[in-house]
Amino acid sequence: ADYETILVETRGPVTLITLNRPQALNALNAQVLADLIAAFAAYDADAEQRCAVLTGSEKAFAAGADIKEMQPMGFARVYGENLFAGWERVTATRKPWIAAVAGFALGGGCELAMMADFIIAADSAKFGQPEIKLGVAPGMGGSQRLTRAVGKAKAMEMCLTGRFMDAAEAERASLVSRVVPAAELIAEALKTAEAIAAMPPLATIANKEMVNAAFETGLGMGIQFERRLFAGLAATEDKAEGMTAFVEKRKGVWQGR
Ligand code: HXC
Repeated sequence: ADYETILVETRGPVTLITLNRPQALNALNAQVLADLIAAFAAYDADAEQRCAVLTGSEKAFAAGADIKEMQPMGFARVYGENLFAGWERVTATRKPWIAAVAGFALGGGCELAMMADFIIAADSAKFGQPEIKLGVAPGMGGSQRLTRAVGKAKAMEMCLTGRFMDAAEAERASLVSRVVPAAELIAEALKTAEAIAAMPPLATIANKEMVNAAFETGLGMGIQFERRLFAGLAATEDKAEGMTAFVEKRKGVWQGR
């Protein structure tokens, strides 16, 4: 497929999606959203593709929702058009995807990174929710996902002051899984994606669903959800193969069933 604002390439079982609006530091306008919805849906539908990486440029993962696009929009349009609701289609992606963040991840850019299953950051990464300086607030989930990721104190301070968090602080605060030198960001993210892509497919989706359930339910229900999914995996051929392969001291070969 052809996209206007992103580049999509496949490397074996890994899909690499690169935001490509350099003139606007990858600001997220309606076309970027439409392109990402289509690209993630295509990734999810392609059985050969097993993990995805979303990245930006060296200077910016994304500097936010597109301020120039939002400037003329009043309440009636923002509410009437349900602005940003389309991002739920990106977060509906069933298969795993990693955000590889270098440079600015601000406002909607930080929020997009937090939609990923996890974030790997370059040492150049800067995260922030500076919307308050524009007279608004996070609109793509940032007030909720940032607070769940880093806790109230840091989330509140960042939203109220607009200050940026650098990569080292983001790692200390558990916003990102890992920080790597900027020059190695894409290679490290692809390597991690390849490792995930080599896992049994059904177990991959189950693991993602379980961890995400921790953000949607209480502990008891979450543990019930985990136990039921775990039991379901016991019925798969990949489970039989995985445990047999371990006993026979060889690598498992996965069927995805
Ligand atoms: C539209 C943007 C943009 C954005 C940058 N650009 N961010 N365009 N929307 N979010 C454009 C600039 O206008 C400029 O275009 C070009 O990208 C390069 O940016 P510069 O500002 O010249 O670069 P620099 O001086 O290096 O500063 C980088 C920066 C700054 C610190 C990241 O661009 C910045 O503060 N951007 C806005 C960050 C922000 O507030 N994000 C939150 C957005 S609100 P021209 O044409 O002039 O060269 C949001 C959710 C809101 O995300 C929800 C509301 C409901």
